[in-house]
Amino acid sequence: MRSFEKSNALIEREKKVAPLAAQTFSKSYRYFMPGAAPMFIDHAEGARVYDVDGNEFIDFICCLGPITLGYNYPAVNKAVMEQLNKGIIFSTQAPVECELAEKLVEVIPCAEMVKFVKNGSDATTAAIRLARAYTGRERVAMCGYHGMHDWSIGASANNKGVPKAVCELTKTFKYNDIASLENLLAAHPGEYAAVIMEPIQSNGTTKEYLQAVIDTAHKHGAVAIFDEVVSGFRYAIGGASEYYGVTPDMASYGKGCANGMSLSFVAGKREIISLIEQGVFVSMTFGGDAISMAGALATIKEMQEKDVMGHAWKLGTMILEGLKERVEKHGVGAAVSVSGLAAHCGVAFDDVGSLNYLDIHSIYAKNMLENGILCQAITNISFSHTEDDVKKFLDAADCAFAEIRKAIDKDSVDGILSEGARVNPVFKRNIK
Ligand SMILES: Cc1ncc(COP(=O)(O)O)c(C=O)c1O
Repeated sequence: MRSFEKSNALIEREKKVAPLAAQTFSKSYRYFMPGAAPMFIDHAEGARVYDVDGNEFIDFICCLGPITLGYNYPAVNKAVMEQLNKGIIFSTQAPVECELAEKLVEVIPCAEMVKFVKNGSDATTAAIRLARAYTGRERVAMCGYHGMHDWSIGASANNKGVPKAVCELTKTFKYNDIASLENLLAAHPGEYAAVIMEPIQSNGTTKEYLQAVIDTAHKHGAVAIFDEVVSGFRYAIGGASEYYGVTPDMASYGKGCANGMSLSFVAGKREIISLIEQGVFVSMTFGGDAISMAGALATIKEMQEKDVMGHAWKLGTMILEGLKERVEKHGVGAAVSVSGLAAHCGVAFDDVGSLNYLDIHSIYAKNMLENGILCQAITNISFSHTEDDVKKFLDAADCAFAEIRKAIDKDSVDGILSEGARVNPVFKRNIK
């Protein structure tokens, strides 16, 4: 029986001084089983994390995507330490910035030029500002989650604090439904600056659909942008653009590009990105820190030299097939659906009988943690995960689905979850 005494004490302390006791919503204690999760990590190695109470877990969250090679990964650490010893950031550029920009122009399909920023939200926002400047228009059509800035979060259910006028400029269209995009753009002819989308959602799409999105955007005079913050460096180095073989006008990347260092970038056509030289403001103090760039260069080198993406697809296929088999074996398909392309797959939860999806999610989370697996609904796989780690993940899922079956049969979580023991998300995405 694991103890989480120190983690729990730290949550109580931090809650008093920092909202949600976490800087990233999806890392908040509210996303995890109350009192029974490793909320404070002391250190990590490869695919494993070690919390402040001394518990060990195999981590299938990978920091919500950034860890693509593994924690404390020697080749990246070496590059970062070498740069750290030379200096973190300077009053002008470090040579690694030029080297990395050249490397990205080589590996990212749409990249004729790149601009570095820090978070995925910065990269999508830079793309939208550039598209607005390029077209002289203001409206945005979006499909997916694109970060915390007003233009995108304003169009979601989490839009408190965003001016109405800004909310109204962004409208959403449905994934894999080209008519939905066409209708949106046609409703305001000549007004849409950009069509931005997460190119891979749920079970993915086709090259034809993605090309149709680009063509439809162009037909209406809008710039086509792929938000590859999740898909980049996870399905393929170049993300969906590379995987499906389609090239948007611009694309935003972040998360997985530097194995955990904070770096993101917008890439695209020279005539659009170079507007930064003509009055489009994309600039920040920490935009060119040398250690994150050294980390990115080392990460990409490792991905090119070793079959990092092949590994993610191979282990992901084991997870995808293994989850499907176990859902079938326990007959829990009404409550648990398995989704995603193998390299980034997982489960989603549904209401069944009088159980709601959070009851089902909580039973899953409890069993995974009790079996030494740290995960959320969708898995992230790093190059440090092994087939044995995947077997342990699937054994844990087997226990979880058996308990979900019991709850469905009883139409109750009595005896399975204790009073109040529920995951309680901050916002709904990633859960359902
Ligand atoms: C598809 C997508 N775009 C953009 C973002 C925003 O990235 P960040 O949280 O690094 O600002 C996210 C974050 O989860 C994302 O999933």
